[in-house]
Amino acid sequence: MGYGKHVKEILYGGDYNPEQWPEEMWQEDVRLMKKAHINEVTLNVFSWAALQPDENTYCFEKLDKIMKLMRENGFKVCMATSTAAHPAWMAKRHPDILRTEFSGMKRKFGGRHNSCPNSATYRHYAPKLASELAKRYQDYDNIVAWHVSNEFGGACYCENCEKAFREWLKAKYGTIEEMNRSFNTAFWGHTFYAWDEVVLPNILSEHLAEEDTMFQGISLDYKRFMSDSIMDCFRLEYEEIKKVMPNVPITTNLMGFYKDLDYQKWARHMDFISWDSYPFPKDTPAQVAMRHDLMRGIKNQNSFVLMEQTPSATNWQPCNKLKRPGEMRQLSYQAVAHGADAIQYFQIRRSIGASEKYHGAVIDHAGREDTRVFREVTQLGEELAHLGDALLEGRTPSRTAIVFDWDNWWAVEYSTGPTIRMKYMDAIKDYYTAVFEQNIPVDIISVEDSLEKYSVVIAPLIYMTKTGWDDRVRKFVSDGGTFITTYFSGIVDEHDLVIPGGYPGHLRDILGIWVEESDALPEGESNTFRYGGAEYTADVLCDLMHLTGAECISEYGEDFYKGTPVITKNEFGKGKAYYVGTRSNQEFYKQFMKHVLEEAGVSAPVSIPEGVEAAVRENEKGRVLFLLNHRKDAVDIALSEEYGDLLKDMNYHVGDVITLEKYGVAILREINQ
Ligand code: GLA
Ligand code: ZN
Repeated sequence: MGYGKHVKEILYGGDYNPEQWPEEMWQEDVRLMKKAHINEVTLNVFSWAALQPDENTYCFEKLDKIMKLMRENGFKVCMATSTAAHPAWMAKRHPDILRTEFSGMKRKFGGRHNSCPNSATYRHYAPKLASELAKRYQDYDNIVAWHVSNEFGGACYCENCEKAFREWLKAKYGTIEEMNRSFNTAFWGHTFYAWDEVVLPNILSEHLAEEDTMFQGISLDYKRFMSDSIMDCFRLEYEEIKKVMPNVPITTNLMGFYKDLDYQKWARHMDFISWDSYPFPKDTPAQVAMRHDLMRGIKNQNSFVLMEQTPSATNWQPCNKLKRPGEMRQLSYQAVAHGADAIQYFQIRRSIGASEKYHGAVIDHAGREDTRVFREVTQLGEELAHLGDALLEGRTPSRTAIVFDWDNWWAVEYSTGPTIRMKYMDAIKDYYTAVFEQNIPVDIISVEDSLEKYSVVIAPLIYMTKTGWDDRVRKFVSDGGTFITTYFSGIVDEHDLVIPGGYPGHLRDILGIWVEESDALPEGESNTFRYGGAEYTADVLCDLMHLTGAECISEYGEDFYKGTPVITKNEFGKGKAYYVGTRSNQEFYKQFMKHVLEEAGVSAPVSIPEGVEAAVRENEKGRVLFLLNHRKDAVDIALSEEYGDLLKDMNYHVGDVITLEKYGVAILREINQ
């Protein structure tokens, strides 16, 4: 979906802040942007103070000039609403807009992403500004999208939020009794008799630290409530813009696996997904791709907009390594390969003051076009212009899915015991990496998504099984699917209340096992098991289980549970369900997933050397294969089909060899498909 059907090219541009510069420089920016084949600018991201000097006055004159200049020069505009940082005067006159931290400390004016989401002031003035902007610029048909606020996030623990939390609880539970049951307040005598006895969970109440709570139920609900509260702020602005410009799609820039906000829920209220990709230099290609796949997955596997990436270094990492020559181009195409329909930078021109003055930009402080970064940006711009609409709206043909659930993420890591070493993201990454490295396309789906179109569904560390989800899995496996889950799964319901009768709860019959105990291993200790002729480590948590129908694939090699099952397989209906009762290493996951995927008949689109990524996107123009060389050296790839090279405008025959340099990319359309 990206920007939508009315956009017929890969938009290329990014955050542009002309308001930080004297007007004389704007013409030069326009010249340079055109030279780099930039066709889109994201405007007005942080201008609230300039646009609104007091409660009743709006000053749009400067933005008018900028908008006019952009339109005259043919740029598409992604129009931001500027509400991610409130004006200083507003904080002074209406202090309810300021956030209170987890510690209970009330903040003063400063920073950004700093407004209390339940502040009446914020909820009045932010949508009002969005509305004023929409009215002012509604006749600009070069506005391709609205960009509400910027990287919504964080949390607030103020009294307004506490009051709103009580209302949220009332709406959710209806009665205090039901809330008490769901929080299990009989424990430690925390029973509530009136709604206003409920205080929000932070360091002053139920928490020992941010991730350490004594009452998981209330802490989980606060996470959900905060995510909803912030989402409501997005929705308030959304509605105001829609009233004025109903046909222009609205988004906000997300941040991948961002723990505080349940993006799967947010996505339902966004017209399309856009997100900001800032990989750390040490991230593996799988880690980078995994975030794109999540972002594609939250809105029905539709294409998305890469709203921001840095052309080279960031400023906010402890050590900000430059992207190597070719690296930014490859990262851009990797985004496209996983679903991006637009490539945009933060930022077009590098600012001279405050915290982002050393952040990469298309135009740096020298203001020149003969820089390495500018040349690379220009080359990519040329190529994207050449690709035109060839790749737009492409879908990823996945038969494998990984289940990801925000509530489960919060619940696993709020759990007091069995071990703080158990991290949800580790479990997701273990399995994602194993599938990715075999070049098998994979969707990241929610617990609400249908499983029907998949052959293999992996639900790593699915500790929380929400009511009804097991039925979906049961049907999927009975119908012939292959299901895989892991240690510490199926333990609790959506309230974080244990499902009695033995672990893994409602999944027991599907898996054909009963887990009796879980042994948490301290750092430095591990068990072993054998699989496919090799020995692997069992780490972090070892489930001790009984077979109740499943077959044992592998046994523990040591300790008092030596010889008991660690990996099991259950034939269930027409399908199979695997349980991997411990955390192991990447070599194991690779072997294991190779066997399981082979058994399920799921294969890679092509067979290519290790370290080269192959990804596929399909649209009505055909099927396109992306080859991305992540190795340290150049690699030769012999082609086993006929392809048309979309970047080079030439055709390849069966047996032709293409050489990909380090960071090299090929975009090949299958011929005769
Ligand atoms: C985020 C923000 C931008 C900028 C960049 C820097 O993505 O949205 O405003 O701060 O980070 O990397
Ligand atoms: Zn608040």
